[in-house]
Amino acid sequence: MNADFATMSSFSADIATQSAPGKLILCGEHAVVYGQPAIALPLADIRAYAQVMVGTPGSGLRLYAPDLGREWIVDTNAEDPLGELALATLHALNAPHTDLALTLSATIPIASGMGSGAAIATAMVRALADWAGQSLSPAEVSALVYTSEQRYHGTPSGIDNTVIAYEQPLWFVRHTTAEQQIVADIEPITIAQPLTLVIGDTGIRSATRLPVGDVRRRWQANPHYYEDLFTQVGELSRAVRVALATGDLVGLGPLLNANQTLLEMIGVSSPELERLVAAARAAGAVGAKLSGAGWGGVMVALTDSTDSRSAVTTALRKAGAVRVLETTVAATSKRSPRSA
Ligand code: PMV
Repeated sequence: MNADFATMSSFSADIATQSAPGKLILCGEHAVVYGQPAIALPLADIRAYAQVMVGTPGSGLRLYAPDLGREWIVDTNAEDPLGELALATLHALNAPHTDLALTLSATIPIASGMGSGAAIATAMVRALADWAGQSLSPAEVSALVYTSEQRYHGTPSGIDNTVIAYEQPLWFVRHTTAEQQIVADIEPITIAQPLTLVIGDTGIRSATRLPVGDVRRRWQANPHYYEDLFTQVGELSRAVRVALATGDLVGLGPLLNANQTLLEMIGVSSPELERLVAAARAAGAVGAKLSGAGWGGVMVALTDSTDSRSAVTTALRKAGAVRVLETTVAATSKRSPRSA
């Protein structure tokens, strides 16, 4: 235990704790940056956590991320997206910048396409609001976190912060207005049958902005080719939405496989991802694809029974996944979708 940690443990009992889910993009990553629809799912049982504790007078605003082995005092002159987000949140809450210690942790693999950064940021914003005795709407939380995501990713579509802040399966379409403002149309989607998913982690960390920037350069050099691919991805997203709403898991699998093929053509897959995708399919997954920005990170497999889920988990481990996570996305209620 270092001296700073010892100092932290002497904070008073004034504590607020909040969490936020990880996420998966089921269909439409990359194409979503170019205005095509995508479908994203929150992962209720794979989460990030934030705790706010009142610090001793004069201790400042401190962030503590034991998973990363990092602890720091927010310095407005330093490059510090999370610190800036903490300050922006306190400002939005009209809460005085005071002596606070924020402890951040997550069970979500970092830089893997599961939204760890947006989930940690969302948990922190929620915990600060809780500490201040206020509630922020999902739209307010999402907008605060989006600003922080821009610091990490350059031009993110906003899908991560949105699905995590709303914490429900979403249809997401991004538009750029005439004033170059990015706005998103979001709608909750119906999931008629629970989705039993197995997530395989290649263990290769990849910063989202690298494949996103690479796709942008290739799109600029060859816009027709890439726009055609993005349009095909958008059509798949529409078909995936229908399959989810009708509980057609058998029909959903091939759509996910087709999305993987398009992602390979877009140039964001990798041999490691493809090895895991092939292993999952051979072990009985009804469909499998990379999820998120690609080049590394995770892939997701859809299974249709507990038996095939364990077979896919075993196959992914054998094929070199450094971590395998099993999760279920619950069916949504039968009420007609409302506008978020
Ligand atoms: O941050 P990731 O790895 O979940 O990827 C985000 C999805 C992209 O479509 C590749 C980028 C974006 O901003 O939507």
